[in-house]
Amino acid sequence: MSPPPPPVLSVSGLTSGYGEVPVVRDISIEVGASEIVTIIGPNGAGKSTVLKAIFGLLRTWDGQVQLDGTSITGLPPERLVRQGIGYVPQTENIFSSLTIRENLAIGGFTRATGLAERIDWVFALFPVLAERPNERASRLSGGQRQTLAIGRALMLEPRLLMLDEPSASLSPIMLQTVFENVVEINRRGTAILMVEQNARQALSISHRGYVLANGINRLTGPAADLLASDEVRRLYLGE
Ligand SMILES: Nc1ncnc2c1ncn2[C@@H]1O[C@H](COP(=O)(O)OP(=O)(O)OP(=O)(O)O)[C@@H](O)[C@H]1O
Ligand SMILES: [Mg+2]
Repeated sequence: MSPPPPPVLSVSGLTSGYGEVPVVRDISIEVGASEIVTIIGPNGAGKSTVLKAIFGLLRTWDGQVQLDGTSITGLPPERLVRQGIGYVPQTENIFSSLTIRENLAIGGFTRATGLAERIDWVFALFPVLAERPNERASRLSGGQRQTLAIGRALMLEPRLLMLDEPSASLSPIMLQTVFENVVEINRRGTAILMVEQNARQALSISHRGYVLANGINRLTGPAADLLASDEVRRLYLGE
């Protein structure tokens, strides 16, 4: 029997922050090859900071990050996108003055070949974008913008897609669409690590979850166990 494959993403003992003060400390997170993993936690817990540190936007002060069993600790974003990480930030995740097609082309900037084919692949996944390829992103609804941001991050066929609050400020119906898209992207072979405020809905489509509070791992487990936990329901699901 061959050994099980390493997790797509393995973060251990990660400490990072801004300036002099560590904001997240000793964080450990794993994402398996076929998993959807969600990080929840209160405002200011450090959720976005963890994603930024993994993606090389912040320096790793301590700890290790591995992708498919290979160290990527401290690599800059432009290296990480080539190695298979897609990242959709919480804000400013598209170029408003450019068209849908131009946004997708920029997302595929390092592709040597197959740019047009990959844009068609994203259009097939998200028909709402295919309907108006030459529309400026500034004219799109919130939900369409989020769809475009995700489509852009998929242009380089990432093994791991990191999403920072993909459902933020969307209507309930668009929120559901975004989560359906996440499930479909995962079904097509991309592991997902997402941060979400809509914790109940996010956990309900996830395999596992992490609760971050005050910059540390507070709880972790199968998403179903977190949804059933009294502590999680009381403190983090507002029940
Ligand atoms: N650019 C920055 N410079 C200095 N401190 C920052 C910066 N960005 C965030 N922080 C601080 O780091 C802490 C964690 O912020 P972070 O954005 O990671 O939280 P979060 O869990 O993503 O919160 P939210 O749910 O509001 O998005 C907060 O105390 C915040 O004030
Ligand atoms: Mg955040």
